[in-house]
Amino acid sequence: MKISIEKALAILNQGGVIAIPTETVYGLAADATNTKAINRIYEIKNRPSDNPLICHFHSFDQAKKHLNAYPNYVELLVNQFTPGPVSFLLPLKLPSPLQVATRGSSHVIIRIPLHKLLLKLLKKLSFPLAAPSANTSGKYSATNAEMVETDLGGKIDGVLDGGSSAIGLESTILDCRKSDEIKILRPGAIGKEDIEWCLRNENIKVIESLSIEQIIPGSKYKHYSPTTPIYQIQSIKEIPSNNDFAVIGISEDLQNLSTNKNLQIISLGSENNMPEVASLLYRKMFELDAMKVTTAYFIKRDFGNSTIGKAISNRIEHMLAR
Ligand code: TXA
Ligand code: MG
Repeated sequence: MKISIEKALAILNQGGVIAIPTETVYGLAADATNTKAINRIYEIKNRPSDNPLICHFHSFDQAKKHLNAYPNYVELLVNQFTPGPVSFLLPLKLPSPLQVATRGSSHVIIRIPLHKLLLKLLKKLSFPLAAPSANTSGKYSATNAEMVETDLGGKIDGVLDGGSSAIGLESTILDCRKSDEIKILRPGAIGKEDIEWCLRNENIKVIESLSIEQIIPGSKYKHYSPTTPIYQIQSIKEIPSNNDFAVIGISEDLQNLSTNKNLQIISLGSENNMPEVASLLYRKMFELDAMKVTTAYFIKRDFGNSTIGKAISNRIEHMLAR
């Protein structure tokens, strides 16, 4: 059920759970300091209970009240990139009302999202919003209200519709626990080069981390996958001859296929427009599941070394059936 911002405020103030728009993906939000409301997020998503929740603030000043001493470079990054699609792992001031959301951890991931309607909502609330992506655990994130309603509609108290998420992939997560080093724990729209440029006058090492399991509890779980299993193939020659399946690829790779009427084809868009590929990726997975085919084949693609290309590759890698 779509709700107005006034209704969203009332529900959140009463400890309810609603879906909220952000520029990355939709979030499933509740009062980050309310244990009952947080517990409901876990139930609704069927989320493993040790997997902490990102907390959303309208400003860094609001977040600061909850933080212990953090490295100097954090404010430079915050000034440069927020509100925006990046999140920061930082030390909590203990004891903290946010430790229900962090599952007891003394570190919190904070995010200041770039979405007009959401910022308006956050400014009217007296608490931050804990909000994991608005999807059943293990699935791709929702990037519009329809996707939220289809997946979680009956279980939540409403959806604040803010249109399609502009970026379409989850925020970049930065581990800012060390004073001389930043680890990128999850790639997103803000990349290593952006961070290095922002901190060009500082002596900070930026690392693209590959083994993040110890730091991001959620990374050990299945992620971003549609219900339909997707197998990667090297070329269209490997496509089998039965027709109960879909083929997924970049439009350039699908050109030779489109004359065959029996195939269900999902085009992720052109490699010349990677931001569009990113913004459509999860919506295309939603369309795939609606096709009700037994299997899908993804035509392997090198998305290159651009920031957004790396984020796309990361999500597709996680999506593939093993
Ligand atoms: O773009 C985004 O970040 C979206 C929107 C809604 O803001 N949110 C999002 O949340 O992607 P989620 O829960 O789907 O992914 C957050 C990841 C999870 O893997 C979780 O384990 C990790 O961040 N995480 C959250 N809080 C943490 C903490 N205190 N310590 C370590 N890892 C944390
Ligand atoms: Mg998620």
